[in-house]
Amino acid sequence: MTARILKLAGSAMIFLAMTLAFATAQENTLAPPRKNAFDYTQLAKVPSKAAMRRNPIENDADSVAAGAKLFDLHCAECHGDMAQGGHKAPSLLVRQVQDATPGTLFWLLTNGVVRRGMPVWSKLPEPQRWQLVTFVKSLAPADRPQNPPDAPNDPRPPGDR
Ligand code: HEC
Repeated sequence: MTARILKLAGSAMIFLAMTLAFATAQENTLAPPRKNAFDYTQLAKVPSKAAMRRNPIENDADSVAAGAKLFDLHCAECHGDMAQGGHKAPSLLVRQVQDATPGTLFWLLTNGVVRRGMPVWSKLPEPQRWQLVTFVKSLAPADRPQNPPDAPNDPRPPGDR
């Protein structure tokens, strides 16, 4: 009896192992490209006190231009020249980012999402981080005809869709 149960259990294990191996192989070949793995969940995890922080330079006329320069220097390499996203990092033109409060974006810059490839920017002086926030918030999708609202987070050219 015991032997029979053991044998049964053994077959079940082999079956499970094979299913797992098959599933893993499928995953490896059918896995979506890395860019589809971005889900913006970190934005929802920002502590509410940090999220409520006001942007002290929101109304500073030069901060969008200053932020644009900083973006070129530090961010475009991963997020794309127009913040449209790419292989390394998600688009910042999507609603999840554009609807985030300035404080949320500031916190995200300050803390990064290191385990998912977004660096920490706490070494940039605070005013520069706020300039970056101001710049990113100025990129609302509606202002950008090259970023149609039906595919705001798809970095592929229209032909590849
Ligand atoms: C080395 C590549 C890299 C650089 C450089 C970089 N980022 Fe990111 N960024 C990422 C990745 C990867 C994510 C996605 C993190 C995740 O999945 O949560 C991200 C996420 C974000 C998000 C939030 C969206 C989300 O996914 O939650 C914002 C906002 C952002 N980055 C802004 C910036 C700004 C502004 C700069 C320049 C100061 C910058 N990033 C530089 C890789 C980068």
